[in-house]
Amino acid sequence: MATADKKVYRASTTAPVNIAVVKYWGKRDPKLNLPTNSSLSVTLSQADLRTLTTASCSAAYPASEGDSLLLNGEAADVTNARTQACFRELRRRRAALEAASPALPKLSTYPLRLVSENNFPTAAGLASSAAGFAALVRAVADLYELPDSPAELSLVARQGSGSACRSLFGGYVAWRAGSREDGLDSVADQVAEAAHWPEMRAVVLVASAEKKGVSSTSGMQQTVATSGLFRERVATVVPANMARMEKAIADKNFEEFAEVTMRDSNSFHATCADTYPPIFYMNDVSRAAVRAVEAINAHAGRAVAAYTFDAGPNAVIYYLEKDAEVVVGTLYHVLGDTEGWKREALSGLKASMSLDSGV
Ligand code: DP6
Repeated sequence: MATADKKVYRASTTAPVNIAVVKYWGKRDPKLNLPTNSSLSVTLSQADLRTLTTASCSAAYPASEGDSLLLNGEAADVTNARTQACFRELRRRRAALEAASPALPKLSTYPLRLVSENNFPTAAGLASSAAGFAALVRAVADLYELPDSPAELSLVARQGSGSACRSLFGGYVAWRAGSREDGLDSVADQVAEAAHWPEMRAVVLVASAEKKGVSSTSGMQQTVATSGLFRERVATVVPANMARMEKAIADKNFEEFAEVTMRDSNSFHATCADTYPPIFYMNDVSRAAVRAVEAINAHAGRAVAAYTFDAGPNAVIYYLEKDAEVVVGTLYHVLGDTEGWKREALSGLKASMSLDSGV
């Protein structure tokens, strides 16, 4: 009789945060997590924002305990449909390898244990689910020694959280909405490497590190169901913004990049306001950041900074390295004088970040 394999198999990985400049907002198929529109993001430096995940599995782990996830030291739920979809899909891919090579250990049948840590506040509109699911999928794919490309893994990560599919690439990344019902063409691809436009920087203004009020998932469902403006956004605004943004990146045209980034953020938050009942992610502190960026750009006589806001009040400001002093310096100065801008917010001004070149 063969001795049972009690070995613990393990793999660790980190995944970066990405911040969209053309936003994903709306699902055409909530079960497969297929979006209503394409989106485009910039992957931020892992030195500043990242999730570190270790995946392990073993025949020695009691089957009765099932799969588990420890997130920032606390037990997290893995029974939700999204995490289950990722585990199921990763196990299916591993099982195919095991079927082709019977000598491989049957890792696909062992309980999985994941330990994950963010170096930034979870669920504060800082794309934690993006880095989280990208790291989860990547760690288990490494553990299972899957040969899948980042594009193939993006199909899996998408089912965990839509924006996660973009965190499998560095640089400038598009998530193509696709049109197939099975979602096999709803996949991420790299529009340009970080090295193509390495002068790009981002600064995060932390207006609040608290958990957001309305989750992206439920917020976007309410928008799809109730906003008329949203239909216009999907039909005309986003396709035009995607085309303009891809060209701006190819041409390294920061003014164009900045205008599309700010307009798309405004358009997304307008559809939130047009949702019934309305959803407000931005607050007075956020609006002060918008005014500060406008002041910086007016003073420079051209767009040197671009704001964008996700499903929370924190601002991400994009700028080029050569304009660092005027942008970051003025943000400190202007926001320091703005009533309502809290001291903590200023102390939360992250050092300027470069881009991540990919995992
Ligand atoms: C505003 O990816 O968190 O950040 O697919 O339901 O998990 P789910 O949504 P999620 O939504 C992100 C929305 C956004 C815009 C973006 O990142 O494109």
